[in-house]
Amino acid sequence: MTKHVLGIETSCDETAAAVVCNYGNLTERICSHVVKTQLDEHRDFGGVVPEVAARAHMELLFPILKKTLDQANLSLSQVDAIAATCGPGLLGGVMVGAMAAKTLAMVLKKPFIAVNHLEGHAQVCRLTDAVEFPYLLLLVSGGHCQFLEVYGLGQYHLLGTTLDDSAGEAFDKIARLLDLGYPGGPWVEKYACEGDAHRFEVPIPLKGKPGCDLSFSGLKTAFRILIQQHSPLSNQDRHDFAASAQECIAQALAHRTESALRMVSEAVRQSQTLVIAGGVAANRAVREKIQSVADRFQFRVVTPPPSLCTDNAVMIAWVGLCLFLQGHQDPLSASPRPRWPLGEPL
Ligand code: KG4
Ligand code: ZN
Repeated sequence: MTKHVLGIETSCDETAAAVVCNYGNLTERICSHVVKTQLDEHRDFGGVVPEVAARAHMELLFPILKKTLDQANLSLSQVDAIAATCGPGLLGGVMVGAMAAKTLAMVLKKPFIAVNHLEGHAQVCRLTDAVEFPYLLLLVSGGHCQFLEVYGLGQYHLLGTTLDDSAGEAFDKIARLLDLGYPGGPWVEKYACEGDAHRFEVPIPLKGKPGCDLSFSGLKTAFRILIQQHSPLSNQDRHDFAASAQECIAQALAHRTESALRMVSEAVRQSQTLVIAGGVAANRAVREKIQSVADRFQFRVVTPPPSLCTDNAVMIAWVGLCLFLQGHQDPLSASPRPRWPLGEPL
């Protein structure tokens, strides 16, 4: 029988809800997908303000839930389980989503399922592209940057992680220095189209070093110094800086991917699939650079569509559905975890 899971995502500055079911092709499985980005709320601050985000989630969530159910043409009583992001993320926001899900679960007497946000990013490729376990994953978002071997739901082996900042933070910081807009990644990508990607070059972090840890703080600082040296910037300078920064970040990710591909265990090498997930995976230059490295290792690259790379609730409903079908549910006493490494129980 077809099972429907409602998913809620409120860990950062997107308020999102979705319904996913276990029947049909991809379009049929995603019964509804609603995301409201809190751009207006945070624009003046140049970044996400946790208290502002939590309040906005509270105001936005119920209209979004209604829209999500309408879009899926379902009533709440027809939903089989309710899943919500319970971490990692900004605690205030996570609490809003988790409390809403628990309340619905209690009133409707349906299972509540606590989902790890990173697991959503890590597993949504199984919904979009039916990727089989195991696979190599580059998870690259605003807060995280990691290489993992994925063996199953809840089964991860960490190969390398960032020593300081994530690639998403580098995009956001450089966009801020160029006065482009928030979140920075899409703006840098847009500006880069009309820029010279080789006008400004900075050392590529950890290039040629063994292992597949990552680092972006040196690159960020190098661009900050260069931007200050060239200020005041002309419009063309801003395009060239955006293109050069994107090129350097993409190169850094591609070099580390090469190292990760050399490291992967026999099991993953046999599967020969590399998944790129998280907000930065929406960047075309990043995807293309990594693709050319993967081609050399004869790895297939899978990237979810951009709307499922950035934060969304489809990935949360999807992990919720997989857990539900395994018979899993969480107690209503489960507490959100602002830090929740992949693979650890709640
Ligand atoms: O996965 P995500 O939506 O949220 C987190 O879980 O962090 O990732 C957000 C990050 C931000 O740093 C944003 O600038 C970056 O992903 N991002 C991009 C693009 N779209 C989003 N970076 C580069 N190019 C993009 N097109
Ligand atoms: Zn995310």
